[in-house]
Amino acid sequence: MALNILVIDPDEEWLHTASGFFKEQMYTVKAVNNGKDAQLALYNEKFFAVVLNYSVKNHSGSQVLKFIRTNHPSQKVVLVFENEGICGGEEGKEKYKKMGANEVAIKPFELSELADLLEGHQSLGDLVGALPRKKGTSEEVEVKEADDDFTGIRIDEFYSSQAVLFDVFVKLGSGRYVKILHAGDNFSKERIDKYKNDKGVEYLYFHKKDRRKYIQFNNFIAKKLINTNNISGATRINQLKNVTDKYLEEVYTQGMKPQVIDQGKEVVNNIFNFVEKQDDLHKLLKDFEAFDPKLYEHSFMVSVFATSIIKQFEWQSQITIEATALACLFHDIGKMKIPREILDLRPVEMDDEQMEIYKQHPEFGVELVENNRMINNSVKQIIMQHHEAYNGTGFPFGIKSSKILTLANIVCIADDFVHIMLDEELSPTDALKKMITDRDQVARYNSMILENFIKVFVDPSKLKDQNKQKVG
Ligand SMILES: [Fe+2]
Ligand SMILES: [Fe+2]
Repeated sequence: MALNILVIDPDEEWLHTASGFFKEQMYTVKAVNNGKDAQLALYNEKFFAVVLNYSVKNHSGSQVLKFIRTNHPSQKVVLVFENEGICGGEEGKEKYKKMGANEVAIKPFELSELADLLEGHQSLGDLVGALPRKKGTSEEVEVKEADDDFTGIRIDEFYSSQAVLFDVFVKLGSGRYVKILHAGDNFSKERIDKYKNDKGVEYLYFHKKDRRKYIQFNNFIAKKLINTNNISGATRINQLKNVTDKYLEEVYTQGMKPQVIDQGKEVVNNIFNFVEKQDDLHKLLKDFEAFDPKLYEHSFMVSVFATSIIKQFEWQSQITIEATALACLFHDIGKMKIPREILDLRPVEMDDEQMEIYKQHPEFGVELVENNRMINNSVKQIIMQHHEAYNGTGFPFGIKSSKILTLANIVCIADDFVHIMLDEELSPTDALKKMITDRDQVARYNSMILENFIKVFVDPSKLKDQNKQKVG
């Protein structure tokens, strides 16, 4: 059960490529090469979005567009042009938008750019409204399936759309589950409540193969929570954590496939928005109760702290924050190439040979993300240098001071901090104290970065007061 897209283009080869691409993105695709079949499809089926080539024949592109606007006024349409000339530049774009195109795209473009246009302004209502729906709710069914096929989510943190996007289960025992929500059904809050309140169930499960749907849907929810007032910071960061955890699971099991990395874009955009909009971030990051590090994926924590540090710098921008967040999600990906028995040791327990292998993980990481269009050079450099230290004591190259990318040194401090907090089970405040009172530790970082790291935990309004006093 997926979202349905109609693609209309006279070029069969392009149609084929585009269909393949969108199917990988979990859409179902109807592809037609002429306007008449397009109208027939629009008459018979409901579509989440329509991609219409203006040069289509029998009926023409403009006829099809007119048909859509008359019969399906709220249908999202991306109008595609073979070249700039046919569209007629910026003026032409405006003209076609007035005629009813929501977006205009001119070939050649990357299919992922087209996907961005389709999804960019999409609201939750659009996503859910376009779902094929069954009437009512199917019966609960008990199934026997391998535990390894499932992934869990806390019942309190489960969000669903009105139509259920994927099958949802409760675990009865090893290899035994009961399907309580069926994909395509109406969502039943009663069933969830029954298990939660009457039976004390804490976790819900879904199939790992549905993880990408989970991530896409929950990214929407995260965006919504971040942009809605009166939602607590803890709720927001928990939602962000859930999506990111599942995203990292996907990355670590599926490998660095382009479509997997692409999904990270939404994740890091939400991290950016969270860090940007959360006024009491300092409180949240300091407060052990709301932010229990043991429950968090290491890479997610590193990305939250690293981006919070960047926010303290004047030169910060959405681009740097999102690139760094992405680098943080992948910073230890190179560990996938290191044998388990080495990873299970703490660095102090490793012999020289094991240590040498461990120290290669930044380089392995860069090899794994190479050749992906989302991964630019700074992301690669951050991954490569996240263990380099300002005083030259780091690895793999032992480079020093200005040779190290500032963003990489920021990720280094965030990574060290998260490790101290987790390994020694310290609260954020105690871990901070421990770090800044240890000379060797402090020497690992550029002093500006260290200063801004400390500011992460300080109320920004107090910082302003301090500056005023200094001036006075
Ligand atoms: Fe690392
Ligand atoms: Fe790490």
